[in-house]
Amino acid sequence: MRVLVVGGGGREHALAWSLSRHGHRVWCAPGNAGTPGNIPIAADDLQGLVRLAREGDIELVVVGPEAPLVAGLVDALAAVGIPAFGPSAACAALEGSKAFSKDAMVRWGVATAASVTVTTLEEGMAALDRFDTAPVVKASGLAAGKGVIVPDDRAGAEAALRLMFVERAFGSAADEVVLEERLVGREVSVLAVCSGTEYRLLVPAQDHKRLGDGDLGPNTGGMGAFAPAPTLGAELLGTVGDTAIAPILHGMAERGTPYVGVLYAGLMLTDAGPRVLEYNCRLGDPEAQVILPLLADDPAEVFLAAVQGRLGELTLSWEPGAAATVVMAAAGYPDQPRKGDLITGIEAATAAGCTVFHAGTSESPDGPRTAGGRVLAVTGVGADLDAAVARAYAGVAAISFAGAQFRHDIGRTIPEAT
Ligand code: AMP
Ligand code: GLY
Repeated sequence: MRVLVVGGGGREHALAWSLSRHGHRVWCAPGNAGTPGNIPIAADDLQGLVRLAREGDIELVVVGPEAPLVAGLVDALAAVGIPAFGPSAACAALEGSKAFSKDAMVRWGVATAASVTVTTLEEGMAALDRFDTAPVVKASGLAAGKGVIVPDDRAGAEAALRLMFVERAFGSAADEVVLEERLVGREVSVLAVCSGTEYRLLVPAQDHKRLGDGDLGPNTGGMGAFAPAPTLGAELLGTVGDTAIAPILHGMAERGTPYVGVLYAGLMLTDAGPRVLEYNCRLGDPEAQVILPLLADDPAEVFLAAVQGRLGELTLSWEPGAAATVVMAAAGYPDQPRKGDLITGIEAATAAGCTVFHAGTSESPDGPRTAGGRVLAVTGVGADLDAAVARAYAGVAAISFAGAQFRHDIGRTIPEAT
């Protein structure tokens, strides 16, 4: 198949790598220094992407990031008859609007934290009285993973509301703000490939969100991941599918907007049972960099089956063993990542048996250079988690660039909720 992958991060390199491995011809827009068939069209240039897919006789488009999904790229491609794997804008609103997402959970009976949505500072301040302890304060719209503040006390919650409504730190993403009961427990993620009311759970993957070892330091997009995650046994995984994935799919289908694509549920395992914190409408990054290497099936077949309503005919098969990925981030990440540092040792890491996925990289005459916050994701696959982790770190040891930051405990500590 002629496949176009939209996006330019580590997740998109993993998609392109997995598709290429199964014999497909792959293009990436815009891609990065590691991806094949790069075409310089931005992931948010909807018209440019539709034109590219038409003129390139693309048979399947796979959309990696949330922004083009929320903006309606899949709808635009469907309107001209190009099969695209990913949710429509109506479905991507589950990630694009936390207010919509909370409504959906309540309406369709998904267990979640109690919440209230507010649209002004005054309303927000008044609503604080309704919580026994300071609530989590969330910008409703897309904020590149930074729009959630977990304050320790009421003063912190008030400051968060001011940051959103007065200082406008998140712009229009905080026109609506969700205040949510703070939950305690262990965080897990469950991802499924979905098509209408059919879904297939992906191998459970766990990411490490904090920058530093031992889950210290600021939140990031994710500093590493491993799969299968032992936190979720088969029984709990099935329960989460029944209670967190299926009701949303049925609700969206009944509403006339069936969900096609990956649905990612972020949950807190509380003493009272699993509670959904958020939905994402796409594969996780770096979760994709451990899930795709373990998928034995051709991802294009799985994605196309979902687009064409044939997912019910498939069972997914997985490679034995485990995968771990260690993210190498630029100096200054996450606040002010430095660009332009020369990266060496990728071939040596590959020779050590790793798959090195590029993220924020760009090409230069001397070789790849850093060009974004998360620079590389170094994945190792092994007979078990220890072997996978050891292989990933052997790859990391071979790679260097000035100021590289990475965690030393990926897959070695199971992240606790914070
Ligand atoms: P979200 O994007 O909604 O998943 O929030 C980002 C992070 O904030 C989560 O991964 C949690 O660590 C934390 N968080 C979100 N909601 C809550 C909550 N209700 N209680 C405690 N922590 C939360
Ligand atoms: N790693 C978390 C995410 O992709 O949202």
